[in-house]
Amino acid sequence: MTVAPAVPVLAVRPAPRLRGEPRLPGDKSVSHRALLLALLADGESRIAGAGDGRDVRATAGIVAALGATVERSGDDPRAVDYRVVSPGRAGLREPAAVLDCQNSGTTLRLAAGILAGLPLFAVLDGDASLRSRPMGRIAAPLAAMGATVAGRAGATLPPLAITGRAPLRAIDHATAVPSAQVKSAILLAGLAADGATVVRESVATRDHTERMLRARGVAVRTEPLAGGGAAHAVEGPADVAPLDQRVPGDISAAAFWLVAGAVHPDAELTLREVGTNPSRRAIIDLLRRMGAEIHERPLGAAGDEGRGEPLADLVVRSSTLRGIDVTPAEVATAIDEIPVLCLAAAAARGRTTIRGVGELRSKESDRVAGIAAGLVALGAKITVAGDDIEIEGGRPLTGAAVETQDDHRLAMTFAVAGLVARGETLVRDAGSADVSYPGFFGELERVRA
Ligand code: S3P
Repeated sequence: MTVAPAVPVLAVRPAPRLRGEPRLPGDKSVSHRALLLALLADGESRIAGAGDGRDVRATAGIVAALGATVERSGDDPRAVDYRVVSPGRAGLREPAAVLDCQNSGTTLRLAAGILAGLPLFAVLDGDASLRSRPMGRIAAPLAAMGATVAGRAGATLPPLAITGRAPLRAIDHATAVPSAQVKSAILLAGLAADGATVVRESVATRDHTERMLRARGVAVRTEPLAGGGAAHAVEGPADVAPLDQRVPGDISAAAFWLVAGAVHPDAELTLREVGTNPSRRAIIDLLRRMGAEIHERPLGAAGDEGRGEPLADLVVRSSTLRGIDVTPAEVATAIDEIPVLCLAAAAARGRTTIRGVGELRSKESDRVAGIAAGLVALGAKITVAGDDIEIEGGRPLTGAAVETQDDHRLAMTFAVAGLVARGETLVRDAGSADVSYPGFFGELERVRA
C-alpha cells in the first residue's frame, strides 16, 4: 500500500488478516463544540484529546480570529490538547479577515449561530465543496432572529456575511430536514436572544450541543415529540461557563474499522474509548442487526455530573452479514456512516434497502452518487431510485480505480473495500482523509501487518 504525496492515489491490496487496535481521532462533533463553547466562556477551558483533522483545526482558527488565545499541544497526529482562554462574549473582537471554514459545514453553521448574536461583522467562507452546500437552512432562522445575513444566491450559499446583534429575538423553529448543525446554530444564537428559543426536529439528531451547554451551566430543556422527534428550548440571554472536557474517540471514524472487521474473513479489531452517545451509536446497532459480531464494554461517561459522553471499548470480529432495511429516521441518526454501511451491505447476503438518503447529496460531496459509482466500479450491485438505495449483497468485489470526489468518508470507505476486494484498489484523492482522520492510512497499514 503506497500513497504518493504529489498524486494522492492510494493503492490498497487485500489483507490476509486484520488484527490490533486502530487508534481513533477525538470526536469531530464534540471537538468543534468544545472549542466554540470555550470561545463564549469567560476564562480558561482545556480540551483533552480533540480531533486534529483539518475540520477541527479550521474551527480552532476561527476561535483565535475572534479574540481567544488558543494553544494546541501534543504530538499524536489524531488527537491533541487545547487550552483556550477567552475574554468571553463581551470581549470578542471583529475578525480582520474572512473566516475560512475550509471543508467543514459544522464549523460554518455553528460559527454562524454564534456570530448572529455578536454585534460585529464577519464573513464565513470555505473551499469549493463548502461553497456548494445549502446555507438557507441557517441563514433564514438567524435572519428571523434579527441578524443580518447576506450571501450568494440569496444567502443560501457561502460565503455568508453576517452582522450580528444582541439581543436577538427568540424564535420557535421547526427544522425542514433533521440536522444537528441547524439545531445547534439556532440554540447557540438563542444564548444571545431575549426569551426562550425553541428548535423542533422530526428526528432527534446528535445531542452534543445540548449536553455540552448543560454541562456549562445553561439550562436546555428537551421534550420528546409525538412521532419520534424532539423539541429543545434554551432561555436567553445565557452565559456559558468555562469547562475542562475530555473528548471521546470518534464513533464515525470507528465505523470504518467496525465494517472492516465485520466484512473481512479473518479479523479481530479493538477500538478503545469510543463515544457511544445514544444519539450517535446507530451504526453499532445497524451493523449488529446485519449480524455483525461487535462486543461492547461500557466505560462510564467521560465528563462531569453524568452529562458527559458515554464511552465504550468495542471489539469487532469477522461476521456473516445479512441484508437489512434501513428507515429514513435511521439514516438521519447514522448520516455520516451510510457510505461505509453501503460497503457492509455489498458484503452481506441478500438485499439491503436504505430509504430516505436525500440529505447525503448535500454533504462534502454528493455521497449517493459517489458511493454508488465507487461500489459499482468494484463489482457491487447497487441501484439508486429517487432517495432510496438498494444493494444486492454477496457479489465478490474486485479492485478498480475509484473516484472519491475529494470526500474523506468516501476515501476511507473505498480504502476499507480494498482490504477485501480481489487485486488492487486505487483510491483517488485519498488525502481528503485528513479532514477527519489524519493517520487513517497509517492505521490501515498497522492492522494488516
Ligand atoms: C454534524 C452533524 C451532521 C454530520 C456532520 C457533523 C455535527 O450534519 O453530517 O458531519 O457535528 O453537528 P447535519 O446535522 O447537517 O446532518
